[in-house]
Amino acid sequence: MNDIENNEDLYKLVDEFYIKLLNDPSIAYIFTEVIKIKLEEHLPILVTFWSQALFNKGGYHKNVTQLHLDINEKEYLSPELFKIWLHHFNESVDENFIGLNAEKIKTQALSIATVMQIKIHNERKDKN
Ligand code: HEM
Repeated sequence: MNDIENNEDLYKLVDEFYIKLLNDPSIAYIFTEVIKIKLEEHLPILVTFWSQALFNKGGYHKNVTQLHLDINEKEYLSPELFKIWLHHFNESVDENFIGLNAEKIKTQALSIATVMQIKIHNERKDKN
């Protein structure tokens, strides 16, 4: 097994990750019913995002946390959903890659997920 080195590797990763997400009914409905994603448009955006995060190239500059706060307005993104998301993400990495970038991308995913969850939690507190 190799490390994550380039966009081709990132494509493989997000492709396998979304197969897992979409095959798991406990989270798939967010992508098929709450927001109807078009996979062929969505996956290249994810590659750009991770290329930016991991290699500092790709040119993704949108506020990904705000985007998920907007999704959360439509459907509560619970701690359980984040747990499932991270589980599938980490498995997709571990099944395909080994090395420093593989560790780095899992750490980054966890830290972004943590920020998202804190903000979602704070928004809920503000409303009550
Ligand atoms: C409960 C966990 C999560 C769920 C259910 C979820 C769901 C979604 C959905 C439905 C979209 C499509 C939004 C749209 O096109 O309007 C999306 C986009 C995206 N998500 Fe997540 N997400 C989760 C966590 C994360 C985390 C932790 C990250 C980053 C580490 C992430 C990164 C992204 C990126 C980069 C996009 C593309 C944004 C864009 O179109 O510019 N997501 N997510």
